[in-house]
Amino acid sequence: MTAGAWTSVGRRRVDGRVIVCGNEKGGSGKTTTAMHIAIALVDYGHSVATVDLDERQLSLTRYIDNRRRWAESKQLALPMPRHFHVPPAARESAGEVNGLLVRKLTEAIASIKASHDFVVVDTPGSNTFLSRLAHGVADTLISPMNDSFIDFDVLARIDPLSQQILGYSQYASVVLDARRNRLHSENAILDWVVVRNRMSPLTSRNELKIHTLLRQLSTDLGFRLADGISERVAFREFFTIGVTALDVFEDYVLGTTPTMSHLMARQEIRGLLEQLKLPMDESNRMETDARRRQAASVSRPVVLPDVFAR
Ligand SMILES: Nc1ncnc2c1ncn2[C@@H]1O[C@H](COP(=O)(O)OP(=O)(O)OP(=O)(O)O)[C@@H](O)[C@H]1O
Ligand SMILES: [Mg+2]
Repeated sequence: MTAGAWTSVGRRRVDGRVIVCGNEKGGSGKTTTAMHIAIALVDYGHSVATVDLDERQLSLTRYIDNRRRWAESKQLALPMPRHFHVPPAARESAGEVNGLLVRKLTEAIASIKASHDFVVVDTPGSNTFLSRLAHGVADTLISPMNDSFIDFDVLARIDPLSQQILGYSQYASVVLDARRNRLHSENAILDWVVVRNRMSPLTSRNELKIHTLLRQLSTDLGFRLADGISERVAFREFFTIGVTALDVFEDYVLGTTPTMSHLMARQEIRGLLEQLKLPMDESNRMETDARRRQAASVSRPVVLPDVFAR
């Protein structure tokens, strides 16, 4: 792989940003979100790598494979990320910690991020060493979750009587640990964004309750709550040909014209991308650099002025 060490304007390239889609709850929308965010970033002209760490399902790998086959068979110039998936050794040791493999994969992700603007990582819906590895290298973590108390339970436990938050759950601890380690070892901030997925067009009392609790939890756990993504066929209908809601259907789905639902789906993904506040242009890059500098200064020992006794 060639490392793109310089940007087009001649500045030294900073390492790409690692965006991880993670949530220990299965079926919350990690793969769908990963694919749509990756394609949106490619569409905006960025160099994007995708990494599939879900060694059992390899759904993102399949999605991208379908896309490649469709493009080849129909001779279409579909925008593509550069895709990587876990080696067979990781699949054989699924779920078990394998020190050597962890080191190799961590190095591989570091090398991928040195040569791309963005690395989008999909993770399994369970707590495996591959999932923890991904959370440990994330700059941005997107956790999609369904509007259900079963999904909420992965973040925090709720008192059945008072409906108050009783305590944080296992997955929240995994993320908090990853964030702490990242700050101490690299002075880097993990930006955690939770997004409600598959929202219904009609807001129910149950959803309002979940929204209120998520707001409260966001201050406790330090995540940002993005606007939700609706339940739409547009997000899943073209998996077998690898096409996403963001693609130009007229060209890539051969004559199909987008419906209002497709256009709304695009808007939602673009909206999510905006809320991620990724370093996509100069002002965003400066904001990210400022946050990095602040993180660095927070963990540096305080220099006492002379006026204080030592
Ligand atoms: N916003 C949405 N609208 C409609 N269908 C959706 C939406 N998001 C996800 N889906 C569908 O929900 C199912 C689960 O989504 P997905 O595979 O992305 O979840 P996941 O978190 O990656 O699951 P796993 O934990 O098993 O890897 C899939 O059938 C997908 O097509
Ligand atoms: Mg998945």
